[in-house]
Amino acid sequence: MTQASLDARAKAEIEFFGSFFEGWDRTLSHRFYFLPNLRRLLVAINPTPDTNLIDLGCGVGYLLTEASARITEGVLAGIDITPAVIEAARADPKLRRADLRVCDIRAGLPWPDNSFDVATATSTFHHWGDTETLKEVWRILRPGGKFYIVDWCVPKLLTPLLDWIMIRWSGCWINGGYCSKKELHQLVESVGFKVTHSGLMPPMLLTVGEKQ
Ligand SMILES: C[S@@+](CC[C@H](N)C(=O)[O-])C[C@H]1O[C@@H](n2cnc3c(N)ncnc32)[C@H](O)[C@@H]1O
Repeated sequence: MTQASLDARAKAEIEFFGSFFEGWDRTLSHRFYFLPNLRRLLVAINPTPDTNLIDLGCGVGYLLTEASARITEGVLAGIDITPAVIEAARADPKLRRADLRVCDIRAGLPWPDNSFDVATATSTFHHWGDTETLKEVWRILRPGGKFYIVDWCVPKLLTPLLDWIMIRWSGCWINGGYCSKKELHQLVESVGFKVTHSGLMPPMLLTVGEKQ
């Protein structure tokens, strides 16, 4: 991607997600699908009180809020490109001690090497996931640390259809670019993760990569 197309993408993401979350927590999709899936993900992660966890593309911080009840001593961090969602996360009393940053993940992750035990990316990897960003996730995880990706995945033949549906549904062109399970595995393993789990979190896919 050229710098101009990256800038155009970042601008569209900030505009779209800046208003997308208003009222989202009252929708049936959130209450009966997305939130229960975040809770299921936390059960799968099974953090201890001192786990250091970062949520990439954290939005208003739903996963971090849920995690704050279990992670009472470890670092809770979140990064998102959209200032409005980080502002909303900062207003959440449960996230008072969280390290929340406004940043484009494609510009790098502003944390030192080996900082985290767990990284998560829920409903966001398709916006920024590539070899370069994965290398950054790998860098900030400690050896043996795990990256949990929850995203839409369909067989390769159907990815153009999924792109079309999501763009039509949202009315915004950034909501495309999905990949197949095989492509995702290849991408994750290309930077040195080992895929240790890949299973449905219906109708999304949970993929776990462990830093070797
Ligand atoms: C569908 S929301 C999901 C939010 C959250 N993970 C959740 O499950 O509620 C996608 C999020 O990814 C963020 N995002 C998109 N592109 C990004 C980028 N390049 N860097 C950081 N965050 C990004 C958006 O601002 C948005 O908050």
